[in-house]
Amino acid sequence: MKNEPGTNDEPGTNDQAVLAVEDLHTEIRTPQGPLKAVDGVSFTVRPGEMFGIVGESGSGKSVLGRTVMGLYTSGPSMTVTGKVVLNGRDVHALSPGERRGLWRSDVGMVFQDPGTALNPVKRIGRHLTEGMRGMSRAAARDRAEELLRLVGIPEPRRRLRQYPHELSGGMRQRVVIAVALAGEPSLLIADEPTTALDVTVQKQILDLLGRLQSELGTAIVLISHNLAVVAGRAGRVAVMYAGRLAELAPAADLFAGPRHPYTEALLASVPRLDDPPHSVLQAIEGAPPNMAAPPPGCRFAPRCRYATSSCETSPALVADGGRAFACHHPVDVGGA
Ligand SMILES: Nc1ncnc2c1ncn2[C@@H]1O[C@H](COP(=O)(O)OP(=O)(O)O)[C@@H](O)[C@H]1O
Ligand SMILES: [Mg+2]
Repeated sequence: MKNEPGTNDEPGTNDQAVLAVEDLHTEIRTPQGPLKAVDGVSFTVRPGEMFGIVGESGSGKSVLGRTVMGLYTSGPSMTVTGKVVLNGRDVHALSPGERRGLWRSDVGMVFQDPGTALNPVKRIGRHLTEGMRGMSRAAARDRAEELLRLVGIPEPRRRLRQYPHELSGGMRQRVVIAVALAGEPSLLIADEPTTALDVTVQKQILDLLGRLQSELGTAIVLISHNLAVVAGRAGRVAVMYAGRLAELAPAADLFAGPRHPYTEALLASVPRLDDPPHSVLQAIEGAPPNMAAPPPGCRFAPRCRYATSSCETSPALVADGGRAFACHHPVDVGGA
């Protein structure tokens, strides 16, 4: 395994992005008409960084993740425009065969439900060795065992012979992560990797992802509807609202002083450890827009307490000192 902690994440030493997403649009054809699930999203992920993507359910996070992977491509059911460049290669310009190669060597994906990600009639060992080419059976088994050890599964040799149902949910998610890591990808996309798990197991899986990021130098895109999941783990965070990026900032800046009113409202609705017990959270009023017929202009305007008539035109995502936000009336962060 590659083991180069820290070599890739010093600012300025490596400006080659592992992932560059440029003006990405994913429009899904539905019986109700076209639905712009991802509507002009751009961002880059640097080698070895943990990049968080947060937003309410339905904001387009999963469609974004799957389009970035090249699991969603233009076809009868959807249209994808814009660019996804992974390690210098345009994901959507590749042939299906080349894309499958990419999933082995460049990018791995971890989904919400580890139950459905694994085939119930295949042993754990098969899941891990399937993609291994040009290796003896013994070497493949040793490698599979090494991968299980890497993701913190005890008694790996015995586990290789077991079926998914013989493992707990947390252990299954560790196996899914091991499978995703088998080709030593430079990027892992984890879409709500802990949402289906018990609270105590959630923390263990998030700690594992953090350890893999720092020990292997794997860049991780951590997608969650829950800001608390990315807090303290992601270096930078993108906030998604109704198919667009509302704000993108270093995590510390975002939590210390959100610029977008949506981020501000999201932060106010996250329970904090120092909240008095049973204190009432300030939920965000209103509901996210119907994505088949979103409001014109700023999509958050109907729920925004700062909205004015200027919000009838769409605000662009503009950079401001290492962060960016799409808002005509950004929240003041005193002294900035
Ligand atoms: N296969 C699909 N067919 C129709 N609509 C879809 C499909 N997948 C996602 N959507 C819609 O696209 C929007 C974004 O969905 P999704 O990316 O799953 O949101 P999130 O992951 O942020 O909860 C939602 O309005 C959802 O209903
Ligand atoms: Mg989702």
